[in-house]
Amino acid sequence: MHRPPVLTLRKALSRTLRQGHPWIYREAIVERRGVLPGQVVAVADRQGREVAFGYFDAAGPIAVRVLDLTPIADATSLVRERLRTALAARRKRLDLTTTNAFRWVHGEGDRLPGIHVDVYADVACVRFDGEGSRAFYRELPALLRECGRDLPVREVIDRELRARHGGEIEVLEHGARFLVDLARGQKGGLFLDQRENRLAVARRAAGKSLLNLFGYSGGFAIQAARAGATRTDTVDIAGPALATARRNFERNGLALDRAGFHAKDAFAFLEGAIARGQTWDIVVSDPPSFAPSKHSLTAARRSYLRLHRLAAQVVGRSGLLAAASCSSHVTRAEFLTLVRTGVELAGRRFLLESYAGAGPDHPTLPVFPEGDYLKFALGNVE
Ligand SMILES: C[S@@+](CC[C@H](N)C(=O)[O-])C[C@H]1O[C@@H](n2cnc3c(N)ncnc32)[C@H](O)[C@@H]1O
Repeated sequence: MHRPPVLTLRKALSRTLRQGHPWIYREAIVERRGVLPGQVVAVADRQGREVAFGYFDAAGPIAVRVLDLTPIADATSLVRERLRTALAARRKRLDLTTTNAFRWVHGEGDRLPGIHVDVYADVACVRFDGEGSRAFYRELPALLRECGRDLPVREVIDRELRARHGGEIEVLEHGARFLVDLARGQKGGLFLDQRENRLAVARRAAGKSLLNLFGYSGGFAIQAARAGATRTDTVDIAGPALATARRNFERNGLALDRAGFHAKDAFAFLEGAIARGQTWDIVVSDPPSFAPSKHSLTAARRSYLRLHRLAAQVVGRSGLLAAASCSSHVTRAEFLTLVRTGVELAGRRFLLESYAGAGPDHPTLPVFPEGDYLKFALGNVE
């Protein structure tokens, strides 16, 4: 077996690596000249013992993404095997006859660090995290076609180059139809991570009115309307997303006279609704990340509090609030405190009914909290 170049750790990280942490930051390692992006490397502790094997990236804060703790005999076989394992796990947890939009590979959580692969019907859309990843996984398109033969995967597109992909396609999520614009849609097309949470809300929606804040292409409202919600209102600042939401309602044969679409800032919409005294039985709040970095946490906390306070004011008597945060910098405990405190600032109480993260096609590693980004709390507002 060809011996890979060895990079030596500056920091005592062997234990964390043994536990399965997949990242080695640049400042934690002594770099060597001549190692190429995507090249397989061995990582040694200061005593020279090889403790992990991964691939190198020459740019960005993460120098090595760890693939295994033992030497890698054949990188292609390793990737193929892990793609198969990830797909088998999706098949086990999702009904791929009623859902054909799902995340096949959730990077680190599937032990394929540095890539995300989303399947939209017969298209696989890949996101590479940097040049190292792009180089290491250069055979990925062929491997996806091979391992996804019976899905089937007919086309593999690179999310960064997706503007070249023309047109919309229709996908299914728990039997509901959604139009996905692979070239221009946010997050590659659909927010797949909220799929099961959309269903959890829908299960509570029969005979209820629902406000869908930050509603994108209508996901929460469509599943609720299919489940018998009496009225839905979807709010999003992005006009094109709302236009798709309306067309998604039509595609699912849902009555448009019981659906409102509001191209507005959610905070301004809420202030208007409060002034009018308007309420809904269920309010869903799924904002973009207010804390994309650690530095933005203080401002983000204020925004989350304000949002939960305003949202709580439009929840009807004993109604439900479904609040989400997709920031990995806000911990689960802090998120729940922010929801509870925000609701209290509105003079009400939040009684948590259920807590969830992203769906089963977004696996996380216990040792890697960075991957556990989505938080979703459903509770009564009294
Ligand atoms: C996390 S996504 C929501 C996904 C959606 N709930 C779903 O299930 O598909 C956040 C959405 O918030 C929208 N957005 C961002 N800032 C906003 C604002 N100030 N007011 C309303 N919508 C906003 C974005 O356009 C995006 O569609």
